[in-house]
Amino acid sequence: MNARTETAHLIRENALGYQDFTLGSFTFSRDEYFAHIRWTARDGRPLSHTMDVGNFLRALMRDVAWGFFYGWVNFDGVVGTVNHYDSVDLFAGSYDATMKAAGADLQSNFPTDVIRGVFERMLDDWTNEGFDPFAAPLETGTPYGPKRGHNRAAITRQRELATRCVGLPGDLPLRTDARGAPVNRAFADVPQDEPQLHPEPGFENEVHAFNLFAFLSRSQVTWNPSFTSVVKYSFMCPTTEEHILPIIHGNDRVEWFFQMCDEIHWDSADKNTGKPLARVIMKAGDMAAMPAYCRHQGYSPKRSMLLVWENGSPNLVYEIQKGEAPEVPVKF
Ligand SMILES: [Fe+2]
Repeated sequence: MNARTETAHLIRENALGYQDFTLGSFTFSRDEYFAHIRWTARDGRPLSHTMDVGNFLRALMRDVAWGFFYGWVNFDGVVGTVNHYDSVDLFAGSYDATMKAAGADLQSNFPTDVIRGVFERMLDDWTNEGFDPFAAPLETGTPYGPKRGHNRAAITRQRELATRCVGLPGDLPLRTDARGAPVNRAFADVPQDEPQLHPEPGFENEVHAFNLFAFLSRSQVTWNPSFTSVVKYSFMCPTTEEHILPIIHGNDRVEWFFQMCDEIHWDSADKNTGKPLARVIMKAGDMAAMPAYCRHQGYSPKRSMLLVWENGSPNLVYEIQKGEAPEVPVKF
């Protein structure tokens, strides 16, 4: 699957002011509306793929910010990455059954630092002033047009990762107006009071609680899970969602969803072929588990709160590959 380690370098700048980028035999270029990805297929043919540049940048933003995430980050049905945790595959057509059968696919492996470096420079160069790839479409400007400034402040946001739990002394602080995190327009009715804590003396660092709804009501971004509590490899990753998940996530492990308010409509498909598997309509209070063999993309008509529960064990993906751990959370 991993052909060989490739190299990368910057090639040139086009008439609209955007730089082109290359990774192995893949090249990336943008114009006013589109990102163009080109590669040489396994049979030697030169091939290309086109994405709306706003969608491309929203996907690229997640791939960069999440460190290539768990498993597959499909930018759409054709192009994406696979995280091997010490290296990353970049692919085109490799997980589209028709393209694969036609030999029109290519998958190349890169050291993580190499692909991250190119993706970070591309995100920086192609993101115009006023466009925030993390923001809901109603809350940001346009990605289109010739090169116009940059939005470095938005694209270099640090992912919020608690060590133990949000709000503990020395850990990730609660979100407040003063910290630049006002309540989102969609969550004006969410109570902001915090729970009362009365730990016995000596247990102040062991007993903890915070208002998760209030914390999420102040999220400035969409589709960007933060770690709010960490117990060994159990990561609680709640997030606020609005519009479309900019990537199609292909699982390499089971992933749990708890819909905390409003609703998200999910399309679920086979991870390897893209063949549709299920539509999952999740309303407030619903829970679902995405099996390790699926890919999924969510649609959130209104800003909603989703708790994503990840098993972050570094061994789990290999246990699943060897058949030692299940691809589904429960068998009936
Ligand atoms: Fe996911």
